[in-house]
Amino acid sequence: MEQYQIPNDFAWGGAISANQAEGAFQTDGKGLSAVDILPAGKERSYAIFHPSEAMKKDYGYYPSHEAIDFYHHYKEDLALLAEMGIKCFRTSISWARIFPNGDDAEPNEAGLQFYDELFAECERYGMDVLVTMNHFDTPLALIQKYGGWSDRHVLDCFVRYVKTICHRYRGKVKYWIPVNEINMLMHVPYLGGGLLKDADQLTLQEKYQAAHHQLMASALAVKIAKQEDPSCQVGCMLAAGSIYPYSCRPDDVLAALASDHETYFFIDVQVRGYYPSYAKAFFMENEVYLEMNPGDEEILAAHTVDFIAFSYYSSRCVATDAEVTGKQAEGNAFLGVHNPYLETSDWGWQIDAKGLRITMHQLYDRYQKPLFIVENGLGAADELTAEKTVEDDYRIAYHEAHLKEMVRGIKEGVPMLGYLSWGCIDLISSGSGEMKKRYGFIYVDKDNNGNGTLRRYKKKSFGWYQHVIETNGAEFL
Ligand code: BG6
Repeated sequence: MEQYQIPNDFAWGGAISANQAEGAFQTDGKGLSAVDILPAGKERSYAIFHPSEAMKKDYGYYPSHEAIDFYHHYKEDLALLAEMGIKCFRTSISWARIFPNGDDAEPNEAGLQFYDELFAECERYGMDVLVTMNHFDTPLALIQKYGGWSDRHVLDCFVRYVKTICHRYRGKVKYWIPVNEINMLMHVPYLGGGLLKDADQLTLQEKYQAAHHQLMASALAVKIAKQEDPSCQVGCMLAAGSIYPYSCRPDDVLAALASDHETYFFIDVQVRGYYPSYAKAFFMENEVYLEMNPGDEEILAAHTVDFIAFSYYSSRCVATDAEVTGKQAEGNAFLGVHNPYLETSDWGWQIDAKGLRITMHQLYDRYQKPLFIVENGLGAADELTAEKTVEDDYRIAYHEAHLKEMVRGIKEGVPMLGYLSWGCIDLISSGSGEMKKRYGFIYVDKDNNGNGTLRRYKKKSFGWYQHVIETNGAEFL
């Protein structure tokens, strides 16, 4: 019998995104991105769902403008990540750093140079690079001009950007992901697709038209990346998390199936190369008529992805009984009901380590493609001690529990390319804009109002993760 084990070249690593880490929001010619008009704290959620109102307001403080200033600290940060032993580093390229208005005739050379240097630094440490091409940061100018991804012009602009970065960074990037958490378009349409209308005013037609353009973007990105560098791998990325029916009532099970369809719809197309029949039936029933150019379907079919990347924070639970649906759980932009069997994080997200293994099996059963966990972690309110560290045993326990389940999944036959912890260095929370919601193994001295020295300190989890990587996860075998 074949033994399923953690491969020797398993990509242990960490992940960040440009918009939550880089800062330098107008430095060296960068244009504004979707997130640059979003405030922190309580007002952020309203702004995300009412972006045109947010654009007219002056919030005073905008967390993405400086973030953790990774733009100027990347050398120090990568040195720390290298010390931790990271083998794979995930970041995103800020589209507006390369094309400040999204549709400029020429790319911004200073922006391109920043990533030249960043990737050279990764190479120096022997780290593989995984790049997300669009992580919640469509250039603001495109949003204002076209209303976001439901307009096909945005796809054309994206393709020009993809050609530019795939050519410039050929041989430097091992893994590409065209769109971060592509299914988020349905839940946070402004972040996911730069859709300018208030979220509750958007029609299914507009959202699925934007989805079609992002699916085309993905297929074309596969084509372009492979033309430039046949050895690179391109994946889709799903905001994952198994959906449990709240009870064995057939109605609950059907509701879970419907949520699954909504979630898998995107990557079904990216992996298989065609729209699934359940989606076509849904479109007919809801009078959604996708506008396609001649040749679109052939492009989708010809350029499917190599691997399935996903973020995992929690499972979700759905119910149809009104008494139960009243008990909503907090979560990563998804609605779900409270699962009484799970604990919750400081931010109310339910913690379900076993759900990670369930998710792995479900994804592999469905697609038989290698999987890659590109985000997993615990957002918590850390306290810096007098010794300038953080005793984050709770974070270690979270990762341990998830890694244990991941390794069990591997041993049960699910092929995994790697595990990247989200926000390996503290960064701005995407949902709340807070600095206080920390995920990192490295603490960054900055608070919710933007005050702090930006100094970096190792947390207790730093040494723990270093040991996990050094021993290739032996303790979980
Ligand atoms: C994912 C995003 O949805 O969740 C990240 O890809 C985000 O950008 C992460 O940071 C965690 O969410 P939050 O709201 O805690 O930052």
